[in-house]
Amino acid sequence: MSKKRPSTAPPSTEDRVRLSWRGRSWTYPIRLGTEGEVAVDISTLRRDTGLITLDPGFVNTGACTSDITFIDGERGILRHRGYAIEDLAEHCVFLEVAYLLILGKLPNRTEWQHFSDLMNRHSMIHEDMRDFFLNYPEHAHPMAVLSAMVVSLSSFYPEIGQDDPNEPLDITATRLLSKLRTIAAFSYKKSIGEPFVYPSHRMSYCENFLNMMFSSPVNDYWPDPVVVRALNLFLILHADHEQNCSTSVVRIVGSAGSSLYASIAAGICALWGPLHGGANQAVIEMLERILREDRGRVDKMIERAKKGDPKSRLMGFGHRIYKTYDPRARIAKDACRKLLARLGMHNDPVLEIAMELEEKALNDPYFQERHLYPNVDFYTGIAYRAMGIPTNMFTVMFAIGRLPGWIAHWMENRRDPAQKIGRPRQLYIGEPARPFVPMDQRP
Ligand code: ACO
Repeated sequence: MSKKRPSTAPPSTEDRVRLSWRGRSWTYPIRLGTEGEVAVDISTLRRDTGLITLDPGFVNTGACTSDITFIDGERGILRHRGYAIEDLAEHCVFLEVAYLLILGKLPNRTEWQHFSDLMNRHSMIHEDMRDFFLNYPEHAHPMAVLSAMVVSLSSFYPEIGQDDPNEPLDITATRLLSKLRTIAAFSYKKSIGEPFVYPSHRMSYCENFLNMMFSSPVNDYWPDPVVVRALNLFLILHADHEQNCSTSVVRIVGSAGSSLYASIAAGICALWGPLHGGANQAVIEMLERILREDRGRVDKMIERAKKGDPKSRLMGFGHRIYKTYDPRARIAKDACRKLLARLGMHNDPVLEIAMELEEKALNDPYFQERHLYPNVDFYTGIAYRAMGIPTNMFTVMFAIGRLPGWIAHWMENRRDPAQKIGRPRQLYIGEPARPFVPMDQRP
C-alpha cells in the first residue's frame, strides 16, 4: 500500500501493492469495481519480474472487467446491469432479461415489440437441418445434439459466423436465442420418436417452447399459464452468472476470433459437466436414488457426501462464489413449492426428500464449516420435472436460460480493447531436457 495513505482508509486507485523478490521490488496498481471490489492489476508482472502466478481453478484470478453482472458471494447478492435478481424474477419475462443482458437496458414498449417480432421471424431452423436430427441414435444425450446443432448453424447462417459488424446486434442475438429453443424442442421430439412441431407466431417464447415439446398431431396442447410463468422465472434464474465455467469458455473461444456459434457450442459442452449445469440432472438422479434405494432416508447420503470423495458429493450443494445461500436457490425453492402446489403435487416425495436433505445438511457442521448451501441446481430440476420435462433435458433448459449471458459476454469480450487471446501460462514440472533414444535402443 502507498505510504501516504493510512491502511484504514477505503481502497483507492492511488494505492499500490508492493512485491519484493530477490532484493528488488515493484509496485502494482489497484483497480476498483463500482461495488467496492478491489483488484491488483498484474498485467505487467512477468515482463517486470519474470514471475508468473499459479492459481489452479482461477480461484483468485480476474480475467476481465465486466459491466454485465455483479455477485457478492458473501452477502448472497446477484444483480444484472444493476437490477436485483429478485426484482427481475418477479416482474420480468425471460426475454426482457435477455434483452437487458445483451443490449444493456430493459426494453421500452417499442423496443420490446421489435425484439418480439425478430424472435418470431427467426424461430425456424433451415429445413435441411431436420435431417441431422434423424441420424442421431434415440439415446443420444440432448446436450450433445444441442451443441452439435448450434455449431452446425454456422454452415446454414454464415453471416453470423462472419461477425459482420454492420449487422445489428439484436438480429444476431435474436436469431440464436430463437433457434436454440427450437433445436432443443426438436431434439426432444426426436428422442421420443414424435414428429417435430414448428414454432408459432401466436405464442410467446416460453409458450412456444412448451408447445413444441408437448403438442403432437393427436394432442391439441395449450400451455398452462402457471407453467409458462414458472418457466419464465426459472430461465431468468439461469440467465447469467458472470465468469462461471461455461461463460469463461465462451469468452476464451471467442477470444481466438471464433464465431458466436462456435463459442456457444463450446459453452454448451462446458455447461454439460455435472459440477456445473449438469448438476440439475444429477440432483434429481440423487433424490430418486434416495427414494428408491434408501427408502427416502437422507442420512446415508449425507454421511457419504461428508467422506470427501468428489464422486459422492451432495449434488446441488456448494458454490465457488456463494459462501451463503445462493439467492437463485432461494427464489427457485419458493417458486418450485408454489408450482407443485398449483399443479396439485403438494406431496411430491422427491420435493420432500430435497427439503429434508437441505435441512439436515444446513444443520450439519461439515456443511456449515465449509459454507455449503443449496445452489441454483438444487430445486430447478424438481420444478422442470413437475412441468413434464424429462430428466435428460434439464441441462438443456439451463442452456436455453444461460444463452443471453453467453451472448452478452461474447460481445463484451469482442469489444473490449484490453482483451487478448485467452492463453494462460503453466509451471512445467515434467522431465528436464534429455537425449533422444532410437527405437531399438529403448529399454
Ligand atoms: N458435497 C460435499 N462436500 C462438498 C461439496 C458437496 N456438494 N462441495 C464442496 N464440498 C467440500 C469439498 O470436499 C471441500 O472439502 P475439504 O475442504 O475438506 O477438502 C470443500 O467443500 C471445498 O470444496 P471445493 O471443491 O474446493 O470447492 P469449489 O469451489 O472448487 O467447488 C463446486 C464448487 C464444484 C460447485 C462444488 O461445491 C461441487 O462439486 N458441488 C456439487 C456439484 C454442483 O452442485 N454443481 C453446481 C454448481 S452451480 C452451477 O454451476 C450452476
